[in-house]
Amino acid sequence: MASYSMVNASIDDSEAISSLLQAAKRGGLAPSQRIKLGYVQGDMSLGLVRRRFERGFGALIAVDDSTGEIVGVNFYSDAPSDTQVKHPLTGVASSLQGFQEDGRIDEAGYPIRFDNSMMYGPMAVTDHASGKDLARKLIEGMVPIAQQRADARIISFVDNANSASIAVHRRVGLSSLTEFEFEGRPYTLFSRNV
Ligand SMILES: CC(C)(COP(=O)(O)OP(=O)(O)OC[C@H]1O[C@@H](n2cnc3c(N)ncnc32)[C@H](O)[C@@H]1OP(=O)(O)O)[C@@H](O)C(=O)NCCC(=O)NCCS
Repeated sequence: MASYSMVNASIDDSEAISSLLQAAKRGGLAPSQRIKLGYVQGDMSLGLVRRRFERGFGALIAVDDSTGEIVGVNFYSDAPSDTQVKHPLTGVASSLQGFQEDGRIDEAGYPIRFDNSMMYGPMAVTDHASGKDLARKLIEGMVPIAQQRADARIISFVDNANSASIAVHRRVGLSSLTEFEFEGRPYTLFSRNV
């Protein structure tokens, strides 16, 4: 039976990560299939993946122990604070800004702020390794990383139309902090204390 290790990626893994994420866009599939299997959105080019590492993002990867193939990835970074950017990230930043201004406290009693929330995503697992709990491990692997950074929570945003991704987040114990809209599409901002 195949076994997998969770490893911290480096910029040298960019090409394999970009290929994995480009496949996870599921460009050729009918909308109903994309929704069922899950998808990622946006630019997943090699250049953008490299830039993420250069800007200080980290990534956890799932590696097949026998072949060395990277079969899953989950990026992580500081929470976004730019409320002007033309990207769903603007919704995350605005939501956090609103919570911070209102002094909102989360379920565990911590204030919800930019500087104590670690964001993760995009995340994907290649189809031939799916159904083996790798997405769960790639999300749960965020917890010790956030703890080391002294963050109070991990957060991630999901397009509400992406029912596979919504289901994964709920199954792995994240709950909705809020919802926001970007260009007419609703998104959920998920959170879990660490
Ligand atoms: C969606 C995706 C991440 C699932 O990865 P995976 O490794 O197969 O998921 P896991 O085996 O870790 O499953 C974790 C939980 O989510 C559930 N789940 C996984 N895929 C699901 C799907 N497509 N629809 C509904 N639930 C799903 C599993 O049943 C499991 O729950 P349970 O064990 O409590 O029953 C993967 O298919 C993928 O990368 N899709 C394309 C990109 C994408 O959707 N990215 C967003 C990531 S959330």
